[in-house]
Amino acid sequence: MEKNVWKTFEMRFKRALSCKGKLNSMLGAVRISDSLERFETSSDNAYLHQVDFLRFPFPGKPRVTHVFLDPPYTDDVDYMGFSEFWGSWLGMRFPIQLGRHPGTLSMEDNTARIQELLERVRENTRPSCRVILAYGCKRPNARQLIEKAIMGAGYQIQDTSPIFSDNSQKRKAHEFTLTDRYLLLTAHTPRPTTAEKEVELNALDISASERTELKFFVRISAYWLSCSHTQKLPSLERIRETANDLIRPSLREKFPAIMRGEIREWTLDNQANRKAYNRLCLSFLHLILSKDGFTIVSAENSHFDDSEVPGYCDVRHLPRPTGVAARADFVAAGNNHQRIVFCFLNKEREHTLKQIANRVIESDGDDFRIMHFLVFADHQDMIKHRQVEFVEYWPRGFFLCLGELAGRVVELYGDVYGHLRLFVQKATAGFRVEQKINHFTAEVLSNKPVTGDKNCKHFKIKFEAPELKYVVPGQFVMTDTLSVVERKRIEKRTSFCVEEHASYAKIANLTPHSFLKRPFSIHRVFCDYFKFGYLKNVSLPPNLAPVAHTVFPSRFEIFYQVIENGVGTNELTKVKQGEKIEMLGPLGKSSDLAHWRAQDIREVHLVGGGVGMAPLVFFGQGLKYYSFRVKAFIGVDRIETLLYSARFAPTFSEDPGNAYVYIENLLSIGFVLSDIYVSTEISTKPSMPFRRLPEKNCHVGFVTEQYRSYLDSRENLDGVLVIACGPEPMLRAMRGITLEYDIPMKVLLEKRMACGIGVCMSCVCTTKKNSSTEYSRVCTDGPLFDAKHIDWDQT
Ligand SMILES: Cc1cc2nc3c(=O)[nH]c(=O)nc-3n(C[C@H](O)[C@H](O)[C@H](O)COP(=O)(O)OP(=O)(O)OC[C@H]3O[C@@H](n4cnc5c(N)ncnc54)[C@H](O)[C@@H]3O)c2cc1C
Ligand code: FES
Repeated sequence: MEKNVWKTFEMRFKRALSCKGKLNSMLGAVRISDSLERFETSSDNAYLHQVDFLRFPFPGKPRVTHVFLDPPYTDDVDYMGFSEFWGSWLGMRFPIQLGRHPGTLSMEDNTARIQELLERVRENTRPSCRVILAYGCKRPNARQLIEKAIMGAGYQIQDTSPIFSDNSQKRKAHEFTLTDRYLLLTAHTPRPTTAEKEVELNALDISASERTELKFFVRISAYWLSCSHTQKLPSLERIRETANDLIRPSLREKFPAIMRGEIREWTLDNQANRKAYNRLCLSFLHLILSKDGFTIVSAENSHFDDSEVPGYCDVRHLPRPTGVAARADFVAAGNNHQRIVFCFLNKEREHTLKQIANRVIESDGDDFRIMHFLVFADHQDMIKHRQVEFVEYWPRGFFLCLGELAGRVVELYGDVYGHLRLFVQKATAGFRVEQKINHFTAEVLSNKPVTGDKNCKHFKIKFEAPELKYVVPGQFVMTDTLSVVERKRIEKRTSFCVEEHASYAKIANLTPHSFLKRPFSIHRVFCDYFKFGYLKNVSLPPNLAPVAHTVFPSRFEIFYQVIENGVGTNELTKVKQGEKIEMLGPLGKSSDLAHWRAQDIREVHLVGGGVGMAPLVFFGQGLKYYSFRVKAFIGVDRIETLLYSARFAPTFSEDPGNAYVYIENLLSIGFVLSDIYVSTEISTKPSMPFRRLPEKNCHVGFVTEQYRSYLDSRENLDGVLVIACGPEPMLRAMRGITLEYDIPMKVLLEKRMACGIGVCMSCVCTTKKNSSTEYSRVCTDGPLFDAKHIDWDQT
């Protein structure tokens, strides 16, 4: 303990002794017990105990006459509480847990906790017991708040005395304000007797089963709040509010009648809180999975609350998980013999969880017949564990969080569980909305033409950039087309020119090189531990998929076409493996594919013309993950443009043998050949890949023709959505077709872009809202647009 803190404490204590006769008389010669037992049986005057005060085991001895409290100030002074002062003064050792210090609480939360603290004192002491509260109210409103809390707890301020010392010793005597005070509190109304309390409780008309139900949700709330980063010690008020959002509306009316003391008692046992929370998560998962034919087959029932709560699964009758899933929290099994192992994040069982994850991988290989999920109470915690640094902790595992599970339950069972409010709000407030644009340096892992042909115009560049972790299909990056080293070299040369010559020389000198970054869509993403092509094997339960997450991707690929005389794309071909390039991203509006199903979309047709197919592969990846039915229509001028030889296959991590870009990519993300359609403007039969594609899926002519005849062959087009990307004439033709067949369409637009972040207006296109014309920026309002919002006459 710092010397000045010691000194301050002593000064404070002496001050307390001398400042008022009332205080003086109560703090005379104090004998301190070192155990509660001794305090209760001896004539000692005081007892010191290091514990969160809300959990303080009040001694049975009814002669506590004074309580001295020094809670944290409302202005979050970052020093340890009064108990530490006492402890160090007496030479006692306390483990100091920094995380427990409520310095991060808001003023309102802090004051609510003080009210609880006072209530607790009041409930456990005689009415004549007096309380001295050391308190500083420096922020605006603090004084009113604390007075309200004191009154709310049944006390009144009988006297005050200024505090003239300061922990930091930074203030000079004249700087002390009279807002730092000792407050002498006395009870303003007599406490109800036990008999009175009983009468009060009987009047509430809460049955035993309702009480059990309320207790269940109170416990869940206490646990959930304590898992959140800002609520290590949730106040009773917060617990009540949270529980209120979980309980049935008919019970909500009765909830306010439950006494604070009772609520506190319910939440004292953290294990019991955790068990209630586990049961809630299991129940949510049971509801979601039952839509896909899964049932819960085993559960470690000692980990679950076993009270009678209707509508929330009781697992007492289930056997314990065995074999690969031994020591997991519970297991679900589907009709297709797929098993899903669930574990709750539990810091005390970290090692066990890791063992389970590794056992699953050992026994299942990459088959995904057994999947393992880790369930988080807190969304931020889940995000943390999805980072690449944590991947070893939970290899090849999926992540879920309570907020998103609750949201899914409300989506699927709104009529019964529509009252679940709080968790759902939390879920929608975060995640994709939270993403921010990063300026980062990406390491190039490979940059190769897709064919062995010297004149090949199509390249794939793969790079490592964990900063892009939130990227979703349709989004893009602005990338430099020179490596960092090359860019610096050129800048040096040009600055020399500027110094030497007129400023136009700089511009003149720059012309052979790109100046601005270029926009490119993300073609594919790769996650550690999820081997390339894993989507061929994984089949997530469709109703769970929208809330199931993998580790964040860390590697990405762009498929780019080299433009004749294009400065940037030609430069980009020269960037080598191991070099670094600067990027900005993820850019563009993000679309939430996971929840398209809620908009009645069941099947998506991806129609791509030429390099327009590149971003659609990422859409395919996302849509397959979320278990949509997907069909792809690829339009190219000639198939040879996409043919790459076996020599390049390992670079692209695909099967050796002559293969075709896009087709191979689509197969690797779980497409079957019958769902891939190819049109070539120039017939190259018989060397075309038609040896693998069904004859009916191949067409010579425009992709739009092929798509129209495909639609003709379909009887039912309900729930179909089209996403198209390609040259403008193709998009116009697609607009006509989709209008004719009455299918919704989204288009990925491409415009020249200078900034990519909505500043320069170089990418503006004409859109319509209702019947009025608007201008939208493709970079920030798109690039994915609803076809019906585009003004096709002007664009
Ligand atoms: C959101 C978005 C995503 C894109 N994704 C991809 C992708 O995944 N793969 C890919 O190969 N290309 C993609 N492009 C196109 C790519 O950005 C351009 O081909 C590239 O910027 C050309 O750069 P350059 O320096 O080689 O050409 P420049 O020297 O800048 O221009 C050469 C010629 O190309 C034309 N041109 C340049 N940019 C565009 C453009 N955006 N649209 C139409 N014509 C253009 C110019 O008018 C000029 O005639 C995307 C464009 C956008 C806006
Ligand atoms: S690229 Fe600058 S506003 Fe869109």
